[in-house]
Amino acid sequence: MLWGMKILVIGNGGREHAIVWRLARDAGGHTLFCAPGNAGTAALATNLPIGAEDLPAIVAWAKANRPDLTVVGPEAPLCAGLTDLLEAEGLRVFGPCREAARLEGSKAFSKEVMVAAGVPTARAEVFTDSASAIAALGGFGLPVVVKADGLAAGKGVIIAQTRAEAEAAIHDMLDGGRFGTAGAEVLIEEFLEGEEASVFALCDGERVALLPAAQDHKRVNDNDEGPNTGGMGAYTPAPIATPEVMEVVRTQVVLPTLRELRKRGIVYKGVLFCGLMIGPKGVRVLEFNCRFGDPETEVVLPSLESDLAPILLACAEGRLDPSAVRILPGAAVTVVMAAPGYPGNYPKGLPISGTEAAEAAGCTVFHAGTALKEGRLVTSGGRVLTVTARGENLRAAVDAAYAGISHIRFEGAHFRRDIAAKAFRHL
Ligand code: AMP
Ligand code: GLY
Repeated sequence: MLWGMKILVIGNGGREHAIVWRLARDAGGHTLFCAPGNAGTAALATNLPIGAEDLPAIVAWAKANRPDLTVVGPEAPLCAGLTDLLEAEGLRVFGPCREAARLEGSKAFSKEVMVAAGVPTARAEVFTDSASAIAALGGFGLPVVVKADGLAAGKGVIIAQTRAEAEAAIHDMLDGGRFGTAGAEVLIEEFLEGEEASVFALCDGERVALLPAAQDHKRVNDNDEGPNTGGMGAYTPAPIATPEVMEVVRTQVVLPTLRELRKRGIVYKGVLFCGLMIGPKGVRVLEFNCRFGDPETEVVLPSLESDLAPILLACAEGRLDPSAVRILPGAAVTVVMAAPGYPGNYPKGLPISGTEAAEAAGCTVFHAGTALKEGRLVTSGGRVLTVTARGENLRAAVDAAYAGISHIRFEGAHFRRDIAAKAFRHL
């Protein structure tokens, strides 16, 4: 048992609030810092006025303050090598090194590793010139998927229904400079049918512990209509991810990937987020991310029975005991409340009320885009907050989350009313 660690969490979203919140519930009591954090983390940690991508400032703070562990939330600092910089100072980090983070930072690298490791995934080819990419389209049928290689804030994937759309996407990325260097290479990929699920694999380079699968809801409106967002809600466990599916993820996806990376001298420590398509062809990996998902973290971490810090530290130190990762029975649901206009333009500074009442009703409110203005809680982002509830089953968790959300108000707030509805088809 570990007591009272000093822990630095990097990031400022609902995901980071959920990480800080779960760390704050560990036995013993840690001293928590969050850079930069938000109005939610401020209640549990000391927020530091340091941006998540300001690597020199983070390293300077860590050198001066020597945290026992740093937990990195978002992908950008991981892909930029924050872990490498902190480890060079003899500090422990939960989050992969720069080379390992390329599993998210480069879809071409990720695909190449998956193929070498024998991981089930969509067939794809990589191109740097548009003429060759367009010539290859015939081999893929329709719809076809066109992906920018690098980080594109979730916008680099085009599902083309027609050949003309596919050609336009290829021209945009390779000739038009859309997504800049992130689009200097493109993947043409086979379209997969099925239902998506997210699985977080805690890794220490060699060993793995899977957390229960979750499902995100990416479209802004009910019935998966309207434009894509950063995620409008999530639930766990996802019944589509049966025990058989989870065993495939462990033995055919995560373990072979870690082995293939080790062969290349790369040790993957942190969470390997497996974005899966589960369909008629079985389990296929759509993408790897090198960090926890948002909003999936806001349901998965509240479902963790074990203390979180000892698990994350064990991953960082290469001595994870998967049997130490225990999960609570029951289910969890989170519903995101968004600002008017999101995912398009939205106003900021709208006063928020009712979060205490939602918590009094048994929910947990995780802040994403909030701020304190003259002591009042106001909106400061598109996804403003998310309301999580646990229950003995999914139905109870859904009802509790929506009962909680009914207390919260801000002008023009909108949220989906069908989070987890899809799951009941499988139950
Ligand atoms: P990615 O960033 O690679 O996960 O892609 C973003 C989203 O595009 C995924 O969550 C899927 O909804 C969709 N997508 C990506 N690749 C494929 C594929 N090969 N077939 C069908 N849908 C896909
Ligand atoms: N919820 C999907 C992501 O975090 O990328």
